[in-house]
Amino acid sequence: MNHRHSVRRFLPTPVPLQTVRHILRVASRAPSGNNIQPWRVHAVAGEVRQALCRDILQAAREAAEQHRSEYDYYPSQWVEPYLERRRKNGFALYEVLGIERNDRERRERQMLRNYSFFDAPVGLLVSLDRRLNTGSYMDVGMFIQNILIAARGQGLHTCAQAAFAPFHAVVRRHLPLREEDVLLCGIALGYEDVQAPENRLLTERQQVEEFAVFHGFGEAAQDSR
Ligand SMILES: Cc1cc2nc3c(=O)[nH]c(=O)nc-3n(C[C@H](O)[C@H](O)[C@H](O)COP(=O)(O)O)c2cc1C
Repeated sequence: MNHRHSVRRFLPTPVPLQTVRHILRVASRAPSGNNIQPWRVHAVAGEVRQALCRDILQAAREAAEQHRSEYDYYPSQWVEPYLERRRKNGFALYEVLGIERNDRERRERQMLRNYSFFDAPVGLLVSLDRRLNTGSYMDVGMFIQNILIAARGQGLHTCAQAAFAPFHAVVRRHLPLREEDVLLCGIALGYEDVQAPENRLLTERQQVEEFAVFHGFGEAAQDSR
Protein backbone atom coordinates (compact mmCIF):
# COMPACT_ATOMS: atom_id res chain seq x y z
CA MET A 1 0.00 0.00 0.00
CA ASN A 2 2.90 2.35 0.73
CA HIS A 3 4.30 1.63 -2.72
CA ARG A 4 1.15 2.55 -4.61
CA HIS A 5 0.64 6.05 -5.88
CA SER A 6 -1.24 7.48 -8.82
CA VAL A 7 0.93 7.46 -11.92
CA ARG A 8 0.08 10.00 -14.61
CA ARG A 9 2.73 9.18 -17.19
CA PHE A 10 3.43 5.63 -18.33
CA LEU A 11 6.01 4.01 -20.59
CA PRO A 12 4.77 2.42 -23.84
CA THR A 13 6.05 -1.02 -22.66
CA PRO A 14 3.17 -3.47 -23.27
CA VAL A 15 1.54 -5.43 -20.45
CA PRO A 16 0.97 -9.12 -21.31
CA LEU A 17 -2.62 -10.32 -21.30
CA GLN A 18 -1.77 -13.03 -18.77
CA THR A 19 -0.55 -10.36 -16.33
CA VAL A 20 -3.80 -8.41 -16.70
CA ARG A 21 -5.77 -11.62 -16.17
CA HIS A 22 -3.69 -12.46 -13.09
CA ILE A 23 -4.29 -9.03 -11.56
CA LEU A 24 -8.05 -9.30 -12.15
CA ARG A 25 -8.13 -12.86 -10.79
CA VAL A 26 -6.44 -12.00 -7.51
CA ALA A 27 -8.37 -8.70 -7.23
CA SER A 28 -11.60 -10.67 -7.44
CA ARG A 29 -10.73 -12.20 -4.06
CA ALA A 30 -12.13 -8.90 -2.72
CA PRO A 31 -14.94 -9.40 -0.23
CA SER A 32 -18.48 -8.34 -1.13
CA GLY A 33 -21.69 -8.47 0.89
CA ASN A 34 -23.23 -11.95 0.39
CA ASN A 35 -20.36 -12.62 -2.02
CA ILE A 36 -22.38 -11.13 -4.87
CA GLN A 37 -19.19 -9.88 -6.64
CA PRO A 38 -20.93 -6.96 -8.34
CA TRP A 39 -17.93 -5.72 -10.36
CA ARG A 40 -17.51 -5.92 -14.13
CA VAL A 41 -14.45 -4.94 -16.14
CA HIS A 42 -13.69 -4.24 -19.78
CA ALA A 43 -9.93 -4.31 -20.38
CA VAL A 44 -8.68 -2.49 -23.48
CA ALA A 45 -5.35 -2.49 -25.27
CA GLY A 46 -4.00 -2.01 -28.79
CA GLU A 47 -6.31 -0.66 -31.47
CA VAL A 48 -9.45 -0.97 -29.34
CA ARG A 49 -7.87 1.24 -26.68
CA GLN A 50 -6.66 3.68 -29.29
CA ALA A 51 -10.02 4.09 -31.00
CA LEU A 52 -11.80 4.46 -27.66
CA CYS A 53 -9.33 7.07 -26.43
CA ARG A 54 -9.56 9.02 -29.69
CA ASP A 55 -13.35 9.28 -29.47
CA ILE A 56 -13.48 10.15 -25.78
CA LEU A 57 -10.78 12.77 -26.23
CA GLN A 58 -12.78 14.32 -29.04
CA ALA A 59 -15.97 14.30 -26.95
CA ALA A 60 -14.13 15.80 -23.96
CA ARG A 61 -12.63 18.54 -26.10
CA GLU A 62 -15.67 19.46 -28.12
CA ALA A 63 -18.76 18.71 -26.05
CA ALA A 64 -17.83 17.77 -22.48
CA GLU A 65 -20.96 19.48 -21.12
CA GLN A 66 -23.16 17.02 -23.03
CA HIS A 67 -21.74 14.07 -21.11
CA ARG A 68 -22.78 13.26 -17.57
CA SER A 69 -21.77 10.54 -15.17
CA GLU A 70 -24.53 8.12 -14.21
CA TYR A 71 -23.57 8.35 -10.56
CA ASP A 72 -22.43 11.21 -8.33
CA TYR A 73 -18.85 10.73 -7.29
CA TYR A 74 -18.54 14.21 -5.83
CA PRO A 75 -20.98 16.49 -4.02
CA SER A 76 -22.49 19.42 -5.93
CA GLN A 77 -21.58 21.63 -2.96
CA TRP A 78 -18.11 21.12 -1.48
CA VAL A 79 -17.61 21.67 2.26
CA GLU A 80 -14.51 21.83 4.44
CA PRO A 81 -12.19 20.11 5.10
CA TYR A 82 -12.64 18.37 1.73
CA LEU A 83 -12.66 21.54 -0.32
CA GLU A 84 -9.24 22.55 0.98
CA ARG A 85 -7.76 19.07 0.49
CA ARG A 86 -9.11 18.96 -3.05
CA ARG A 87 -7.62 22.36 -3.89
CA LYS A 88 -4.29 21.42 -2.40
CA ASN A 89 -4.18 18.22 -4.42
CA GLY A 90 -4.91 19.99 -7.71
CA PHE A 91 -2.36 22.74 -7.10
CA ALA A 92 0.30 20.21 -6.03
CA LEU A 93 -0.04 18.40 -9.36
CA TYR A 94 0.22 21.64 -11.36
CA GLU A 95 3.20 22.67 -9.26
CA VAL A 96 5.25 19.53 -10.01
CA LEU A 97 4.38 20.04 -13.68
CA GLY A 98 5.38 23.71 -13.59
CA ILE A 99 1.88 24.80 -14.64
CA GLU A 100 0.87 28.26 -13.39
CA ARG A 101 -2.44 28.33 -11.50
CA ASN A 102 -4.00 30.68 -14.03
CA ASP A 103 -2.70 28.83 -17.10
CA ARG A 104 -6.06 27.38 -18.06
CA GLU A 105 -4.84 26.01 -21.36
CA ARG A 106 -2.11 23.84 -19.86
CA ARG A 107 -4.39 22.74 -17.03
CA GLU A 108 -6.96 21.68 -19.60
CA ARG A 109 -4.32 19.85 -21.63
CA GLN A 110 -3.17 18.00 -18.51
CA MET A 111 -6.76 17.08 -17.64
CA LEU A 112 -7.31 15.74 -21.16
CA ARG A 113 -4.36 13.36 -20.69
CA ASN A 114 -6.80 11.29 -18.63
CA TYR A 115 -8.35 10.19 -21.91
CA SER A 116 -5.19 8.59 -23.20
CA PHE A 117 -4.95 6.67 -19.90
CA PHE A 118 -1.86 8.83 -19.32
CA ASP A 119 -0.23 6.77 -22.11
CA ALA A 120 -0.68 3.46 -20.25
CA PRO A 121 -0.90 0.56 -22.74
CA VAL A 122 -3.82 -1.00 -20.87
CA GLY A 123 -7.04 0.61 -19.70
CA LEU A 124 -9.63 -0.99 -17.46
CA LEU A 125 -13.21 0.22 -17.39
CA VAL A 126 -15.02 -0.77 -14.23
CA SER A 127 -18.80 -0.86 -13.98
CA LEU A 128 -21.52 -1.79 -11.53
CA ASP A 129 -25.03 -3.14 -12.10
CA ARG A 130 -27.44 -0.23 -11.49
CA ARG A 131 -30.11 -2.62 -10.10
CA LEU A 132 -27.94 -3.08 -7.01
CA ASN A 133 -27.72 -0.57 -4.16
CA THR A 134 -25.22 1.86 -2.64
CA GLY A 135 -23.57 -0.90 -0.55
CA SER A 136 -22.21 -2.43 -3.73
CA TYR A 137 -20.11 0.68 -4.30
CA MET A 138 -18.12 -0.42 -1.23
CA ASP A 139 -17.61 -3.86 -2.75
CA VAL A 140 -16.43 -2.49 -6.09
CA GLY A 141 -14.19 -0.02 -4.24
CA MET A 142 -12.44 -2.92 -2.52
CA PHE A 143 -12.09 -4.71 -5.83
CA ILE A 144 -10.60 -1.58 -7.41
CA GLN A 145 -8.11 -1.15 -4.57
CA ASN A 146 -7.13 -4.81 -4.96
CA ILE A 147 -6.38 -4.15 -8.64
CA LEU A 148 -4.17 -1.19 -7.72
CA ILE A 149 -2.26 -3.24 -5.15
CA ALA A 150 -2.02 -6.40 -7.26
CA ALA A 151 -0.55 -4.29 -10.07
CA ARG A 152 2.32 -3.33 -7.75
CA GLY A 153 2.97 -7.03 -7.19
CA GLN A 154 3.63 -7.31 -10.94
CA GLY A 155 5.91 -4.26 -11.07
CA LEU A 156 3.10 -2.19 -12.57
CA HIS A 157 1.49 1.10 -11.59
CA THR A 158 -2.00 2.49 -11.94
CA CYS A 159 -4.20 5.53 -11.81
CA ALA A 160 -7.88 5.25 -10.95
CA GLN A 161 -9.81 7.61 -13.20
CA ALA A 162 -13.32 8.80 -12.46
CA ALA A 163 -12.75 11.16 -15.42
CA PHE A 164 -14.09 8.38 -17.67
CA ALA A 165 -17.49 8.14 -15.95
CA PRO A 166 -19.22 10.94 -17.89
CA PHE A 167 -18.30 9.34 -21.21
CA HIS A 168 -20.30 6.11 -20.84
CA ALA A 169 -22.21 6.81 -24.07
CA VAL A 170 -18.94 6.99 -26.03
CA VAL A 171 -17.65 3.86 -24.26
CA ARG A 172 -20.86 2.10 -25.30
CA ARG A 173 -20.09 2.77 -28.96
CA HIS A 174 -16.87 0.75 -28.56
CA LEU A 175 -17.57 -1.84 -25.88
CA PRO A 176 -20.55 -4.05 -25.08
CA LEU A 177 -21.45 -2.43 -21.75
CA ARG A 178 -24.80 -3.85 -20.73
CA GLU A 179 -27.87 -1.64 -20.37
CA GLU A 180 -27.69 -2.08 -16.59
CA ASP A 181 -23.97 -1.27 -16.28
CA VAL A 182 -23.07 2.06 -14.67
CA LEU A 183 -19.57 3.07 -15.72
CA LEU A 184 -17.76 3.89 -12.46
CA CYS A 185 -14.22 4.64 -13.51
CA GLY A 186 -11.28 3.81 -15.68
CA ILE A 187 -7.95 2.49 -14.43
CA ALA A 188 -4.70 3.15 -16.28
CA LEU A 189 -2.36 0.17 -16.00
CA GLY A 190 1.26 0.04 -17.09
CA TYR A 191 4.89 0.72 -16.28
CA GLU A 192 5.71 4.01 -14.60
CA ASP A 193 7.83 6.57 -16.40
CA VAL A 194 10.08 7.29 -13.45
CA GLN A 195 11.56 10.36 -15.17
CA ALA A 196 8.20 12.13 -15.39
CA PRO A 197 7.74 15.02 -12.95
CA GLU A 198 4.01 14.30 -12.49
CA ASN A 199 4.95 10.91 -11.02
CA ARG A 200 6.98 12.58 -8.30
CA LEU A 201 3.87 14.00 -6.68
CA LEU A 202 3.61 12.53 -3.19
CA THR A 203 0.26 13.10 -1.56
CA GLU A 204 -0.18 13.56 2.17
CA ARG A 205 -2.53 11.83 4.54
CA GLN A 206 -4.15 12.80 7.82
CA GLN A 207 -2.57 11.36 10.94
CA VAL A 208 -4.42 8.32 12.34
CA GLU A 209 -5.42 10.40 15.39
CA GLU A 210 -7.18 12.87 13.08
CA PHE A 211 -9.59 10.34 11.58
CA ALA A 212 -9.76 7.58 14.20
CA VAL A 213 -10.84 7.61 17.82
CA PHE A 214 -9.78 4.83 20.15
CA HIS A 215 -12.13 3.68 22.88
CA GLY A 216 -11.45 1.23 25.69
CA PHE A 217 -7.74 0.80 24.95
CA GLY A 218 -6.60 2.30 28.25
CA GLU A 219 -3.78 4.79 28.75
CA ALA A 220 -1.74 3.69 25.72
CA ALA A 221 -4.37 5.07 23.33
CA GLN A 222 -3.77 8.64 24.58
CA ASP A 223 -0.03 8.82 23.83
CA SER A 224 0.18 6.86 20.60
CA ARG A 225 1.66 9.70 18.50
C1 LIG B 1 -12.07 6.29 -7.67
C2 LIG B 1 -10.95 7.27 -7.98
C3 LIG B 1 -11.04 8.07 -9.08
C4 LIG B 1 -9.98 8.92 -9.43
N1 LIG B 1 -10.07 9.65 -10.59
C5 LIG B 1 -8.98 10.32 -11.02
C6 LIG B 1 -9.00 10.93 -12.32
O1 LIG B 1 -9.99 10.90 -13.03
N2 LIG B 1 -7.86 11.52 -12.75
C7 LIG B 1 -6.72 11.57 -11.98
O2 LIG B 1 -5.72 12.14 -12.45
N3 LIG B 1 -6.68 11.01 -10.76
C8 LIG B 1 -7.77 10.37 -10.27
N4 LIG B 1 -7.75 9.74 -9.04
C9 LIG B 1 -6.49 9.74 -8.26
C10 LIG B 1 -6.56 10.61 -7.02
O3 LIG B 1 -6.39 11.96 -7.37
C11 LIG B 1 -5.45 10.14 -6.06
O4 LIG B 1 -5.73 8.82 -5.64
C12 LIG B 1 -5.29 11.01 -4.82
O5 LIG B 1 -4.90 12.31 -5.18
C13 LIG B 1 -4.25 10.41 -3.85
O6 LIG B 1 -3.00 10.27 -4.48
P1 LIG B 1 -2.29 8.85 -4.65
O7 LIG B 1 -3.22 7.96 -5.41
O8 LIG B 1 -1.04 9.16 -5.43
O9 LIG B 1 -2.02 8.32 -3.28
C14 LIG B 1 -8.81 8.96 -8.63
C15 LIG B 1 -8.76 8.17 -7.49
C16 LIG B 1 -9.81 7.33 -7.15
C17 LIG B 1 -9.70 6.48 -5.94
